[in-house]
Amino acid sequence: MLGVMTNIGFGIDIGGSGIKGARVNMDDGEFVGDRIKIKTPQPSTPEAVAGTVAEILRTSEWTGPVGITLPSVIRGQVAQTAANIDAGWIGTDVHELFDRHLGGREISVLNDADAAGIAEVAFGDPRARKGSALFLTFGTGIGSALLMDGRLFPNTEIGHLKVGKQEAEEQASSAAKDRDELSYKKWAKRVSKVLNEYERLLNPGVIIVGGGISRDHERWVPLLDVGTPVFPARLRNRAGIVGAAMAVASHLAP
Ligand code: BGC
Repeated sequence: MLGVMTNIGFGIDIGGSGIKGARVNMDDGEFVGDRIKIKTPQPSTPEAVAGTVAEILRTSEWTGPVGITLPSVIRGQVAQTAANIDAGWIGTDVHELFDRHLGGREISVLNDADAAGIAEVAFGDPRARKGSALFLTFGTGIGSALLMDGRLFPNTEIGHLKVGKQEAEEQASSAAKDRDELSYKKWAKRVSKVLNEYERLLNPGVIIVGGGISRDHERWVPLLDVGTPVFPARLRNRAGIVGAAMAVASHLAP
């Protein structure tokens, strides 16, 4: 069947613990074939990580365009920050790096939450497709993507917004829930406080909550005290890879 399907892309999602890649059917956002996952090399320097990305593409026998996510602000295809990956990424020209390791193909690098956000809006809950949507990932930090009619305003980084005395992600990421051994009820209070601040400043039409903890959304989304409709993400851990593939297919390179 592969031979007759033309609208296929490839995305790679780079995280602090794993680097994952898969072929993506661009019409429905589903994976085509298996997802490949390789442990993030330690230290996770740009050269080592780019080597692993090349290995994933070789194993997959994929020679076409590739979209790549990083837990970093990416401006002009230069990484400006590095969360949970080696500090050596800061200031790295990611286009030059991946071009050298994966040469001769189109490459697009973008922030991990931005990638997941464009994928969720395109293939997740249809209520997020029109108008303004704020997508958030709750994990080690809080990642954010701001979208209007599915188009991305990149690198928003509002997980680092100060809400009260602390940054949002320090108090309301899922890592903060584990660190402080909070019940869902207690954690939902903190998340509500953060979302109330986001509402006050951005007034999005909808808020979509993703990240690993969105798997348990029944246990905490109903507890949120927020005026804006909040929906759980649907693509879950597929979102980063799918969004990366979408980014390169649409020549989006923040
Ligand atoms: C980083 C973001 C990233 C998010 C999720 C935050 O700490 O600053 O760039 O999107 O974590 O990985």
